This record gives sequence, structure tokens and C-alpha cells, in this order.
Amino acid sequence: MEFFIDTADINDIRELAATGLVDGVTTNPSLIAKSGRQFIEVIKEITEIVSGPISAEVTSLEYDGMMAEGRKLAALADNIVVKLPLTPDGLKACKTFTSEGIATNVTLCFSAAQALLAAKAGATYISPFIGRLDDLGQDGLGLIADIVEIYSAYPELSTKVLVASVRSPLHVVEAAKMGADTATVPPSVLRAMFKHPLTDKGLDAFMADWAKTGQSIL
Ligand code: E4P
Repeated sequence: MEFFIDTADINDIRELAATGLVDGVTTNPSLIAKSGRQFIEVIKEITEIVSGPISAEVTSLEYDGMMAEGRKLAALADNIVVKLPLTPDGLKACKTFTSEGIATNVTLCFSAAQALLAAKAGATYISPFIGRLDDLGQDGLGLIADIVEIYSAYPELSTKVLVASVRSPLHVVEAAKMGADTATVPPSVLRAMFKHPLTDKGLDAFMADWAKTGQSIL
């Protein structure tokens, strides 16, 4: 499974990329606003830190504007993925970008029907937002199961399932069990994935016992 981080915070990206476990980055207009920085500048900087796919979202709502913005974003670096909303114009733009060899991430997916349309439009990634569905009392992980099942029934569809709006390590684990290709996680969730109280407790005990030996490896 690929791990992306869902943030436009350069400090978080630098710190987590240094673990060698970050395959890519996703951003959205809200994350850019939260960063307080210029969109183009921050995206360019992210592409210089992480060599994998970096999703940068268009903000036009109609096809022509999406094409102009997406082309500008794609020209920033080879690893840019143009992020497009799941609307008729967004999917039309997706089809055009795909025909031009530009990678796309279709975002704001909340149903299997939408995911099917995005795959037909040739999206590189589909982003189902599972946490926002859970927030409404709906089954976010159930949507991932449906999409994985549908896509695997049609091997000619190459769209990858990018689990988005992730709220916990359990979301990632359950999505991985279903065979989702990628998860984009907030920095806090990636940090939480490293943690287990028994790891900390065990390490403390090992270090205390090692100190008693008075030895050193080097
Ligand atoms: C995905 O690409 C989105 O940026 C993101 O996962 C949205 O998550 P949220 O529901 O926590 O805002």
C-alpha cells in the first residue's frame, strides 16, 4: 500500500519524508489556506522534497478554467497530479488530461457510482472521503470495499483507490485489508501508526536492562 500525507505543512512534510515511508503528498484548497502560504510556491517546494505523486487541486469549476489551471500546475514538476472535483466538468477535464498523459486525482468522491464514472474518465486516482461519510453516520470503509470490488471486476480499469479523509490508523488498516492501493493520512495519523504502548514499555525495559550490563556496541 502506498502512503501519502495529506497536508501542505512543509515542516510536517520534511519530518515525515525523512522516515522514507512517504510515497506522496495530497493537498486541497483548505490545506493550502491553513498553511498561510502562496499556492504555487508551496506546491513547488513540496515537489522538491517528495519525489512521488503530489496532488495539487484546481479551483475553477468549469472545464476551460480547470484545463488552464491544471496545465499550469502540471508544468511545475514531473510529479504533479492534477486534482479535480467529481463533477461533470471535472471528469471531462480528467479525460482530457489522461489523454495528454497528465496524472489526475478525482476528489470529493462519496459513492461507488461516482467512483465508477471517475474510472471511466481514466482517473489515475479516485479519492473516496471516508471520514466525512462516517461523520454523517454512513459507512466510509464500506464505500472502499464497494469500490475495490467493482474495480477488481474490471481489470481494464487502471484507477487506483486513494483512501482519503482518514481519521485513524484503524481506517488505514481496514482499507489495507480490503486491498485499497493508497491511503492519504494527516501527519497526526501517520505518527499514531508508529505507536503502541507495549513498544514503548518494551523498549524502556530493554534499555534499562542494557544499561545494567555496562556494555556499549560501538
Ligand atoms: C484528500 O485528498 C483530502 O485532502 C482529505 O483527505 C480531506 O480530508 P478531511 O475530511 O479530513 O478534510
